[in-house]
Amino acid sequence: MPPRWFLFLAAVGVVIINLVVFVAFWPPPAPPPDASPAQRLYFAHCVTCHGPSGNGSWRATLFLMRPGDLSDPRRTQALSDEYLFDIVKQGGAPIGKPGMPAFGFYLPDAEIQDLVRFLRALPRKE
Ligand code: HEC
Repeated sequence: MPPRWFLFLAAVGVVIINLVVFVAFWPPPAPPPDASPAQRLYFAHCVTCHGPSGNGSWRATLFLMRPGDLSDPRRTQALSDEYLFDIVKQGGAPIGKPGMPAFGFYLPDAEIQDLVRFLRALPRKE
C-alpha cells in the first residue's frame, strides 16, 4: 500500500490534468451571425489564440503563449501584406517566431489573402 501523501498527490494531479484538458477543449467563441467570410475564417482558425478582437485570448495566456496584439496599428502598420501572408502560410518558425502555426496546408492562398485583409481591418485600439 503506497503512503497516504502519495495517494493524495496522485489525486490532486488527476484533478489538475482533468481541469487543463477541460479548459483546452472549451469551445472557442462563435462568429457573430452577420460575419463576413473572412471573419468566419478568422473565427475558425485564429480566434483560439488571437482572441475575437485580435488582442490575444485567455487560452493563449493560460498556455503561456504571447500572440501579441494584432489590433494594435503600431504593430500591424509596420508589417507588409507580404509578411502577413507569409507568416500565416508558412508559420512563424522560419523567421524565429515558432508560436505561430502554419496554415498553408489547410487554407488556399485566396483565403489567406482574405485573412490578411481582415487583419488590416480589425477594430483599432485608441
Ligand atoms: C496556436 C495558436 C495560434 C493560432 C491558432 C494562430 N496564431 Fe498567429 N500567432 C501565434 C503566436 C504565439 C504569435 C506570436 C509569435 C511570436 O511573436 O513569436 C502569432 C503571431 C501572429 C502574427 C504576427 C506576427 C508578427 O510578426 O507580429 C500574425 C499576423 C498572426 N499570428 C496571424 C494569425 C492568423 C491570421 C491566424 C489564423 C489563420 C493565426 N495567426 C492563428 C499563435 C497562433
